[in-house]
Amino acid sequence: MRVVTLVTQKGGTGKSTLATSLAVAAGQAGETVVAFDLDPQGTLAAWGNSRQAETPAVVTVPAERTGELGAVLRGVAGRFSLAILDTAGADNPITRAAMELGTLALVPLRPTRPDGLAIKPTVEALIRGGRSFGFVLNQCTPNARSSRAAEMAAGLASLGLLAEPMIHARADYQDAFAAGQGVTEYAPKGQAAAEIRELWAWVNRQAKETGK
Ligand SMILES: Nc1ncnc2c1ncn2[C@@H]1O[C@H](COP(=O)(O)OP(=O)(O)O)[C@@H](O)[C@H]1O
Ligand SMILES: [Mg+2]
Repeated sequence: MRVVTLVTQKGGTGKSTLATSLAVAAGQAGETVVAFDLDPQGTLAAWGNSRQAETPAVVTVPAERTGELGAVLRGVAGRFSLAILDTAGADNPITRAAMELGTLALVPLRPTRPDGLAIKPTVEALIRGGRSFGFVLNQCTPNARSSRAAEMAAGLASLGLLAEPMIHARADYQDAFAAGQGVTEYAPKGQAAAEIRELWAWVNRQAKETGK
């Protein structure tokens, strides 16, 4: 079972939004998916409760069970091909455990200076732990292609650390979440759906290239 952890020590970057839509897109692409909510705010669990569909499975692991996370993942590994871990935007023991247990970390950030500064401790922890990771530029505005987002993308891509594609700020992400759906369910022909399918393809390629 592959374990993809959405992580960065900053709220509002899009961890839960991307976790939910990726979980759905991966399921549509043939994975059997379990999504873990490791954030006491319970954003992903609330989304799971509002869903009509049976998949993905949604599991909450509260902070007091941090020590059991590894065993919980091993326990479900036979039934699922992919676990997606959504974490709180804070440095805490369960977030650190999620980074250690992930086969790949996705680090979402908006193309802004504060988000660029905020990734430092997360990246240091991932490098210290020898983890595979990629940044996801999220909530890019359409005209940002030629400006700050493009500059940040070029810098991160030159390090070989940028997930593709850039994800734009689109109402579909917010509306799909509110409807308890992923964007590929909510508006399958939309641009958000196309981006998320591409992001899933990128994640999938990492597994093939690195064995993770
Ligand atoms: N690509 C996007 N387009 C539009 N809104 C987005 C996008 N990504 C996230 N958001 C919105 O930004 C806010 C924070 O996203 P969320 O996924 O909850 O972040 P986090 O889990 O990192 O705290 C939410 O209101 C969400 O709807
Ligand atoms: Mg969240």
